[in-house]
This record gives sequence, structure tokens and C-alpha cells, in this order.
Amino acid sequence: MAKRVPFVCGNWKMHHGVEATRKQVRALVEGLARVQGKVEVAVAPVATTLFAACEAARGSGLKIAAQNVHWAEKGAFTGEWSAAHLVELGVSHAICGHSERRAMFGDDDVTVPKRVRAALDAGLIPIACVGETLAEREGNQTAVVVARQTGAILELIKADEVERLVLAYEPVWAIGTGKNATPTQAQEVHAQIRALLAKRYGAKAEAVRLQYGGSVKPDNAAELMREHDVDGALVGGAALEAASLLAIAEGGMQRA
Ligand code: 13P
Repeated sequence: MAKRVPFVCGNWKMHHGVEATRKQVRALVEGLARVQGKVEVAVAPVATTLFAACEAARGSGLKIAAQNVHWAEKGAFTGEWSAAHLVELGVSHAICGHSERRAMFGDDDVTVPKRVRAALDAGLIPIACVGETLAEREGNQTAVVVARQTGAILELIKADEVERLVLAYEPVWAIGTGKNATPTQAQEVHAQIRALLAKRYGAKAEAVRLQYGGSVKPDNAAELMREHDVDGALVGGAALEAASLLAIAEGGMQRA
């Protein structure tokens, strides 16, 4: 198996204010020893709590991610923040193009790649999300949609930086529904993404981590991450409690 350190990231979406964030980040930091050196763990709190989260995680192995990043360095973009603003806080990762942003806030195959580009330029690790809706899956469009979304992102990424990219396959029908993709379904799409990477970047494709997201829980994490190209997880609901996110991270230990 390729040497890819499994990477599990919690996405707290619009949950947890400052106090809850501090409490959960501290609990994650305390429990991290269980997976340290074997599985990388990050969490993406609400933007207003990033300062507190970075403070609580400082000096530990826990990585703090933002849920979004704008492509410009600064300017008249009310409600957005730049990669430089995140770096200043100590944030190391940025989720780009989550399906909720694509569905509700107008992110698309033009803006998502620009967000990924800005993250890379500032030294952040982008976690770029792709994935089909239920209608697209039922219409046998999964491969087409994933290839289009992934291709748009890769268009802006050079060979010498692709190893820093994390791609998250999050089928929209599996998000928050309790209905995860089966390991076989996830592996099928991940293998397709790996092939797209290999076509562009050759052997470097083997270093790119591919997370699966969509109803990942402690009791299905290990079987999902047992698949050859499922290198980690992007976790919503089951990441809100530190103990649950750590249990999911432990599911990735057998890959290491
Ligand atoms: P759930 O784990 O709640 O299905 O959410 C997945 C997700 O959207 C992570 O980004």
C-alpha cells in the first residue's frame, strides 16, 4: 500500500460557539496521543471561533482548518476572509467547495478552484470537495460530475504542488443522511479520482490523500478506510464530540 498518512478532519459546520469549541479542541488535544504519528487529525470550527481554536490547539499535533477561504488577498468582499487571515491565526488547512457551499452559496467550478489556488499560494493545505447529488447518481452521472469538478480544480494545480492537495469525495446524498456510501462505492470513485490525478501528474498521484465524507461514524470508519484509496475521512455530525472524532481517527490506524 502507498505510504499515505491517513487524514481525518472534523467539519463542525455552523455548530459550536467559542466555549464549546475550546472544550472540544482541548479534549481532542488530550486524546490525540492515541493516534499521534499514525493518523493526522484536524478540525474545522466556525470562523468566529478559529482564534480560540488555534489558541487551544497550539503546540499540539491537532490541525485547525477553516471551512472556506476567499481567493483574493484582501478587498471589498463582505462576509469572506483571505488565506492570509487564516495563516495569521495559525490555521493550516482550508476546506474549499463543500457541497453545502456549492448548493447554497453559489460556489462552482470557477470559484472553487480559485479558492484552492489561494490556499496553496498562502501555504495552506486545501481540502477540496467534490461529489454528486442523488439525482446525478441515479442518472449514472457520478463519474462525469466527479471528473468535471476534479478536473476544474486540477487545472490550476502544478505538478510540484499536487502532493499538498487533499481531495474529499463527499456524495451529497450521503451527507447528514445516516446513509454512507458503501466502502465499495467509495473506493470506486476514489480510484477514478486517483486515475485522473495519475493522468495529469504520473507517480505523484500516489501521494495525494483522498478523504471520504458522508455519514462517517465510529462504527463504519475502519471499513471505509480499509479501502485502498480511502485515505481518511471528512466528518460532520459524528465529529461534534471529540471522543467520537477520535474513535473515527482510530479507524484509520490500520492503514498506517
Ligand atoms: P456528515 O458526516 O454529517 O454526513 O457530514 C459530512 C460532511 O459534509 C463533512 O464535510
